[in-house]
Amino acid sequence: MITSAATTPPERLSERDLQRLMAVVHRHAGIALGPEKRVMIEARLGKLARRTTQSLHDLIGAAEAEPDGPVMNDLLDVLTTNYTSFFREPAHFAWMADTWLPAMVRRRRPIRVWCAAAATGEEPYSLAITLREGLEQAGVDLPVELWCTDVSRRALAVATAGVYPASHVQNLEPMRRRRWFLRGVGQSEGRVRVNPELARMTTFARHNLLDPPPWTQVDLIFLRNVMIYFDDPTQAKLLATLHGALADHGFLVVGHAENVRRLVRGFRMHGHSILEKQR
Ligand SMILES: C[S@@+](CC[C@H](N)C(=O)[O-])C[C@H]1O[C@@H](n2cnc3c(N)ncnc32)[C@H](O)[C@@H]1O
Repeated sequence: MITSAATTPPERLSERDLQRLMAVVHRHAGIALGPEKRVMIEARLGKLARRTTQSLHDLIGAAEAEPDGPVMNDLLDVLTTNYTSFFREPAHFAWMADTWLPAMVRRRRPIRVWCAAAATGEEPYSLAITLREGLEQAGVDLPVELWCTDVSRRALAVATAGVYPASHVQNLEPMRRRRWFLRGVGQSEGRVRVNPELARMTTFARHNLLDPPPWTQVDLIFLRNVMIYFDDPTQAKLLATLHGALADHGFLVVGHAENVRRLVRGFRMHGHSILEKQR
């Protein structure tokens, strides 16, 4: 009988390999995969194993042997959830435009923003649009540094290309869509590309949130919808790290679904998802 890859059932992970995988992913990326995720893990790793013609056992062994190596990268690429969208959780962008940015404009200093789980780029470009529109409205041209990082190289490749299905921007106001996105024609019909001004404003790089922060004196950090994948000790450690990366009275924005209040030290909470660094 001939079986194709599509009909071959995913290779089963032994109990021991599942434990080893959970441990190495937690150690290296903070992601707390529970045994209840076995089916998802086997399906996603199975695709990777077929692509690389390695067994699941060997993939896990290679990741353990070289946690900064290519196999670990591949594992994180397939195990992370990169779901995002333009202007997701719009209240945060409204707060930026109405409250945070006017205060930055009054200060008249360069602005440093870090989008620390940039995924495929929709959030960084939403930040860039909010910054640029707000500064134009205020009639000032402050220098802006907008760093955008993620652990997933696959997601960052999409982000850097800045090309999306047109459906991803269909809910944006028409003015915004016209100004900030170029419509594809011919072979690119049905897709949009971010305007070169947005591409110039954003710098993408790989960064693991468990590593020391690559920047300090940051005015605003967006870290939304990531900490839900981390356990409490990892979240508490990360909050302390980000506290160190922020300038005094800098802000950290987390996702609305993330309940960090019980873990927060040295921040003043504005609502439950906007945190202001106190000295
Ligand atoms: C669900 S997406 C959130 C994207 C965006 N912030 C948003 O709210 O729409 C979560 C992202 O966190 C990234 N991530 C997970 N663990 C990470 C880690 N240890 N370091 C850096 N990024 C990580 C994943 O690769 C993924 O792109």
